[in-house]
Amino acid sequence: MDRILIRGGRPLTGRLAIGGAKNAALPLMAAGLLTEERLVLENIPELADIDTMASLLLEAGLTLERQGRRCAIGGRITRTEAPYDIVRRMRASVLVLGPLLARCGEARVSLPGGCAIGTRPVDLHLKGLAQMGADIRLEGGYIDARVAGRLHGAEIVLPFPSVGATENLLMAATLAEGETIIANAAREPEIGDLAACLNAMGAEISGIGSDRLTITGVARLHGATHAILPDRIETGTYLCAVGVSGGEILLEGGQATHLAALIRALGEAGVMVEETAAGLFARRMGKLVGVDVMTEPYPGFPTDMQAQFMALMAVAEGAAMITETIFENRFMHVPELNRMGARINVHGASAIVRGVGGALSGAPVMATDLRASVSLVLAGLAARGETIVNRVYHLDRGYEALVEKLTGCGAAIERLKG
Ligand code: UD1
Repeated sequence: MDRILIRGGRPLTGRLAIGGAKNAALPLMAAGLLTEERLVLENIPELADIDTMASLLLEAGLTLERQGRRCAIGGRITRTEAPYDIVRRMRASVLVLGPLLARCGEARVSLPGGCAIGTRPVDLHLKGLAQMGADIRLEGGYIDARVAGRLHGAEIVLPFPSVGATENLLMAATLAEGETIIANAAREPEIGDLAACLNAMGAEISGIGSDRLTITGVARLHGATHAILPDRIETGTYLCAVGVSGGEILLEGGQATHLAALIRALGEAGVMVEETAAGLFARRMGKLVGVDVMTEPYPGFPTDMQAQFMALMAVAEGAAMITETIFENRFMHVPELNRMGARINVHGASAIVRGVGGALSGAPVMATDLRASVSLVLAGLAARGETIVNRVYHLDRGYEALVEKLTGCGAAIERLKG
């Protein structure tokens, strides 16, 4: 298995390009199941998770023409099953459920398994679809969903603003009969991107960007061309990277709009971020100080930035309290950061980070999820000596050309094969 070797202690300077948002690209690809016509997506990142979603669409009988960052999805659905072998690689596979059911009246999707960052059930997806008239059974590890004729509109109140449930129900509602309301909907920008594309395909969605989406179902959707928004989590990760290692970088194509909570915390910690015509410019200003943050649904501080911000706090001066409210078990990076000399204690949903006010020390480390893995890369950038990050496949799921992008900004980082 490949590993990443980092020799720490070099400030980052230079520029790198931000790719399209993984978490927008995945539901947008699933939306290709909603029409017979061609859906052309631009600015698709090259990532393992994108390949997994592509496999699911191919499995359903669709054709995909990928040319660099462009992907044209089309063809007829010949199979309505998402097999375990593919779904187990990525929880977001469940996003094909709503579109398949709405379009074909049936879908058989493997239940995503347990996950390193908590139990992560899909009950809200299933309850919403049942309210829209679906008959749902769980059998042999599969979700078996059926509806006679079309799904119908419903007023769905989500008890928690789940991102995936909002997306699945939104896609299903576009082809349902009548009006669907999704109240307490998640407001993540990736949902707005999905809704904008669905409207370009002929859907009638209003309330985009709010926590109340109203969808008037239509009989069919048509093709469209849509450019995916820039990845705010990739952007935020590199903002934390420059904070950890010092220096200054320009993130081409990066946008501040969807990162307000992170940029505010970074400013308090001592990392200046400025939006320029060329992208987001960031510079570490002198000493770093501890700042408390709590993860929340958008527009709060993103859970997907929690581990990277913790790596930053580990090298700051003073204490920071980091509270995780979205996932129940998302502190797996803590023992690994501590092996590198960080001083972090977890109690329940909060971690107290006593910043060491200087460099950590390099060590072999590994992590069990994507954002935790990248937080160890950041810690390695700021550490004395060598850090080896094992289980690189997590990084390949969500960070395009991570090694190349960081090398281009002066980091001493390489991928070791085998
Ligand atoms: C999406 C993102 C992920 C991000 C997360 C929260 C994608 C592909 N992934 O994941 O990167 O960390 O949003 O911002 O966009 N829950 C239930 N029942 C459900 C659904 C969710 O209890 O039916 C719970 C989950 O266990 C979790 C919380 O709700 O504790 C948040 O999950 P959700 O917002 O659904 O996240 P995902 O869509 O899985």
